Amino acid sequence: MSLFDRCEQSVAEALGNDACLVEYGSGSSQKIRKVLQRARPQAYVPVDISAEHLEVQSAALSRDFPWLKVYPTCADFTQPFKLPEPVSELPKVGFFPGSSIGNFEPNGAVGFLRNVLQTLGPEGQMLVGVDRKKDAAVLEAAYNDSQGVTARFNLNLLHHINAQLGASFEPDSFVHEALYNEALGCIQMFLRSRVAQTVMLGNHEISFAEGETIHTESSYKYDPAEFIELARRGGFDTEDWWTDENSWFALYLLRAVP
Ligand SMILES: C[S@@+](CC[C@H](N)C(=O)[O-])C[C@H]1O[C@@H](n2cnc3c(N)ncnc32)[C@H](O)[C@@H]1O
Repeated sequence: MSLFDRCEQSVAEALGNDACLVEYGSGSSQKIRKVLQRARPQAYVPVDISAEHLEVQSAALSRDFPWLKVYPTCADFTQPFKLPEPVSELPKVGFFPGSSIGNFEPNGAVGFLRNVLQTLGPEGQMLVGVDRKKDAAVLEAAYNDSQGVTARFNLNLLHHINAQLGASFEPDSFVHEALYNEALGCIQMFLRSRVAQTVMLGNHEISFAEGETIHTESSYKYDPAEFIELARRGGFDTEDWWTDENSWFALYLLRAVP
């Protein structure tokens, strides 16, 4: 969020006044509010897989920015999807802040960008937030935060599997773990079984030895040169990029390779 404060003027100038912003995984639509303080896009298309949350957040955004046309779109952004008809003629700018691109494997991130290009068209631009490589201790502290937020997020997966798939996980018998794999440049999150145990998932019996792990998430970190190369493989040139005062995060403005 503070990185946006540093570059909001440049971002607003780059977007111009006729853009349609398409946010991939808009969630609580907080970061777009930063952009809207300066920029005046014609339209905003928040895309999210979670329909209810999407509707609530879009209504709040429309109330707070009455001049903005908002077209909530419930879709899985890893699959091709259609943009709403009213924005078809506007120049499109994808918006993917929050470093979520790191949750793809690198080749998956390239595939994602190629899909984005299909949706945005040959003139498409993209604003992407990326977590940079940094000291392992800094990264590991972020994923093992003192308030236990990431631990609860990770363990929530087991609650969710129980609720959605009728499994019998006992979340208290697993412990959250996040380690930086320096060779891969990637934080890997695990749930480690505290004891030997058996869990039912439908008719399937899944056994865990004491200390055995479930790999729940990967979050890749990229140096600028690595990300610029990845974006190029995905069909985008880097027009500009910005970083914060610690050089921990980066925001890239990409444009489709002509
Ligand atoms: C971490 S939040 C990011 C919110 C916001 N973009 C930001 O940076 O503050 C990720 C959002 O992406 C959505 N999401 C995750 N996977 C998705 C998918 N495959 N297709 C559409 N939305 C997805 C989630 O529902 C969630 O709201």
